[in-house]
Amino acid sequence: MKLTHRTVLITGGSSGIGLALAEKLAAQDNQVIICGRDQNKLELAQSQVPDLEIVQCDITEENDLRQLVSFLAARYPSIDLLVNNAGIQQELDLTSGSITNEVITDEINTNMTGQIIITLRLYPLLTANQNASIVFLGSALGLVPKYDVPIYSAAKAGLHSFVNSLREQVARDGVQVVEVFPDVIETPMTQHRINEAKMSADNFAENVIKHLLKDADEIYTGRTRMLEIFNRVSPTLAAHLING
Ligand SMILES: NC(=O)c1ccc[n+]([C@@H]2O[C@H](COP(=O)([O-])OP(=O)(O)OC[C@H]3O[C@@H](n4cnc5c(N)ncnc54)[C@H](OP(=O)(O)O)[C@@H]3O)[C@@H](O)[C@H]2O)c1
Repeated sequence: MKLTHRTVLITGGSSGIGLALAEKLAAQDNQVIICGRDQNKLELAQSQVPDLEIVQCDITEENDLRQLVSFLAARYPSIDLLVNNAGIQQELDLTSGSITNEVITDEINTNMTGQIIITLRLYPLLTANQNASIVFLGSALGLVPKYDVPIYSAAKAGLHSFVNSLREQVARDGVQVVEVFPDVIETPMTQHRINEAKMSADNFAENVIKHLLKDADEIYTGRTRMLEIFNRVSPTLAAHLING
């Protein structure tokens, strides 16, 4: 994958993994656009990395998606790389009786449906040039569910399935599809997991970029490669490793 002089859109680029990737890709002479729900967070990100273009967009909101696509179409002739990174994760007790439909659909829409929709909406811009790429931030929890984040794990499992179908369908247009499986990364999403070993977002982004240059379909970082192998040999052992 070529990673210089490209136009890159990173969803959820205002913190954590998305921001670390945005910073590194902007430093490599790419035009990087980030989106997120919170305008203040986007402006803070831009103050850290002045070359970033910021667009407020909730990927679960139809109006926001329409505005984002119109903005991009008017401003950029093509998008070379879409990084589907926006995500949320909620610990949920499924027996509590207090989980609303909104909590469930929000988590599925952010982690799966929104990513599918934005990918299809941006497909004409992605194929306006040759050699476009689409990168998804998947999760090892989509392969082996973590029982206390059940909707997140289910959404990432659904996303993984979608990514495999997408990769096959878009190959005929020369579009490359990559799914990344991060280890536990130090970001706002994991800040409450205080006793776990975490990789910094900066190291993770550097690592991912190195792998992207090598054109793999799937990128496993840290312990996720071992987990993926264990899961094929013994799903029970893999479930134990994730859930204790
Ligand atoms: N951190 C880890 O250990 C880890 C491990 C495996 C996979 N991942 C995946 O990596 C990705 C990034 O995670 P992270 O740890 O960097 O999380 P993070 O720091 O919480 O960042 C999430 C980003 O997504 C944005 N976002 C959330 N909902 C959105 C929506 N509906 N529309 C647009 N933007 C939205 C957030 O900004 P706003 O709040 O302003 O919208 C923020 O910029 C996620 O897909 C996550 O599932 C992370």
